[in-house]
Formats: sequence, structure tokens, C-alpha cells
Amino acid sequence: MASPRRNRTLYLSTIQDNWRWFTAFVVVIALALVVAAVVVGEAFAVIHDVQAKVEDVRLDTFALYTTNHTAGLFAGGNISVAVAVRNPNWAMSMEYTKPLVAAFVFFQRRLHNASFVEEGRSQRRSSTRLHLLHAAWEVPSQVLDTAAMEEFEKQNATGVFDLEMRLSGEIKFLAHRKLRRMHLSCPLRLQVAPPGHEVVVFPPVECVPFTPENVYI
Ligand SMILES: *[C@@H]1O[C@H](CO)[C@@H](O)[C@H](O)[C@H]1NC(C)=O
Ligand SMILES: *[C@@H]1O[C@H](CO)[C@@H](O)[C@H](O)[C@H]1NC(C)=O
Ligand SMILES: *[C@@H]1O[C@H](CO)[C@@H](O)[C@H](O)[C@H]1NC(C)=O
Ligand SMILES: *[C@@H]1O[C@H](CO)[C@@H](O)[C@H](O)[C@H]1NC(C)=O
Repeated sequence: MASPRRNRTLYLSTIQDNWRWFTAFVVVIALALVVAAVVVGEAFAVIHDVQAKVEDVRLDTFALYTTNHTAGLFAGGNISVAVAVRNPNWAMSMEYTKPLVAAFVFFQRRLHNASFVEEGRSQRRSSTRLHLLHAAWEVPSQVLDTAAMEEFEKQNATGVFDLEMRLSGEIKFLAHRKLRRMHLSCPLRLQVAPPGHEVVVFPPVECVPFTPENVYI
């Protein structure tokens, strides 16, 4: 039989054990709350940039020619692009506060602007949306100066054109009032597609951020 004194010691040590367990429990819960707060806070406070990838392209025409309706030489093109836009933020949806515009640039000369996502459109959090755009342009060949014209002839002879597609827009993220500019450059190497519906294989191209300070004519 245990002495009363021993019983008392046992009793005290049980209280101490319980207290230790309780403290450990509280600490674990507090840490979990801190981690959750940090994760959720990060999800709303830090904006991960929108990404874009060109999934498919078909360049139907890209040529210099004369027309009957106006005098002079023209640079004309006709292209179809499938571009996937990804919102990598898992907590926030996004909304376009300006139309998303694709500019087609040859040798730093802007040939055409095509707006393909309207202002006000939104995209869910953590989602990818595929946009299809068709653009056709016909610009007076003065847009291409001598250097650009030479480059055009050089590339035309190889049958492969370096045509850059620049995406620019402005977006707003849920919970953020500040608007963010979006500037992505998608470098495309393209062959003019044969007439008809023949499929042209195109390896997807990731668009990369660019600074719009790169001036061009
Ligand atoms: C331009 O005009 C000529 C003569 O009027 C005509 O024969 C030709 O087919 C026209 N070309 C185009 C591209 O319309
Ligand atoms: C395309 O848009 C830019 C910026 O808004 C403008 O400076 C440029 O003149 C436009 N180019 C064409 C070919 O429409
Ligand atoms: C662009 O190409 C498609 C397919 O070849 C054709 O149907 C369409 O008329 C062309 N558009 C222009 C403006 O050249
Ligand atoms: C481009 O190439 C095509 C076919 O190879 C040729 O018919 C055309 O004359 C060339 N155009 C220029 C401006 O060099």
C-alpha cells in the first residue's frame, strides 16, 4: 500500500503531465494557426504573374504584294493563334480591366494589333483558358523600312518567318484594388501553311515577360 505522501507525489506528477500535454497541444494548435494564416495571407497578398503559352498557330499568308485598290506595295498577313492564359493564383480570380491585345511584330516593326479578350471578362482562380484569335492585316510597306524589307526577303527565301506576338493587357485580382499591367512576348518561328486544311505541327511556345520600354516603330 502506498503512503499518503507517495500518493500525493503521484497526484502532483499526473497534474504536471496533463499540464505538459495541454501546453504541447496549445502550442501545436497555435503553430497550425500561424502556418494557416501565413499560407492564406500569402495566397491573397502575393500575386503570381499570369502566364501565357501559344498552343497552336497557323500562318496562312505573309507576303509583299501590290493591290488594285491603292497604289504601292503592301505587307499582308493572315494568322490564327490558339493561346492559353493561365491564372496561377489559387485563391484569387482575375478580371481584365482593359482588352487583351495581341500585337504582331516583325523585326521590331508592329504590323497589327488584334484585341481578343474583352474588358470585363474574368477568369477563375487556378485556371487555364484557351483563346482563339484570327488576325489579318494589310499595311503599306513603308511600315517596313529598308532594313526590315531586307530581313523580310531573307526570311522569305528560307521560308521561315520570325514573327513575334506581344500580349498586353491590364488585370485586376480579387481583393486587390491595384491594377496590374500584363506584358508578354511570344516568339514564333513560322512557315507559311500550305493552302487547304493540311495540319501544320507546331511545338507550343511559352511567352516570356518583356518590358514595354523596348521601343519600336
Ligand atoms: C487588278 O486589276 C487587273 C485589271 O483591272 C485585273 O486583271 C486583276 O485581276 C486585278 N487584280 C486583283 C488582285 O484584283
Ligand atoms: C497598336 O497599338 C499601339 C498601342 O496602343 C499603338 O501605339 C500602335 O500604333 C498600334 N499599331 C497598329 C498597327 O495599329
Ligand atoms: C485568311 O485566311 C483564311 C484561310 O485561308 C481565309 O479564309 C481568309 O479569307 C483570309 N483572310 C484574309 C483577310 O486574307
Ligand atoms: C517570297 O517567296 C515566294 C516563294 O518562295 C516568292 O514567290 C516571292 O516572290 C517572295 N517575295 C519576296 C518579296 O521576296
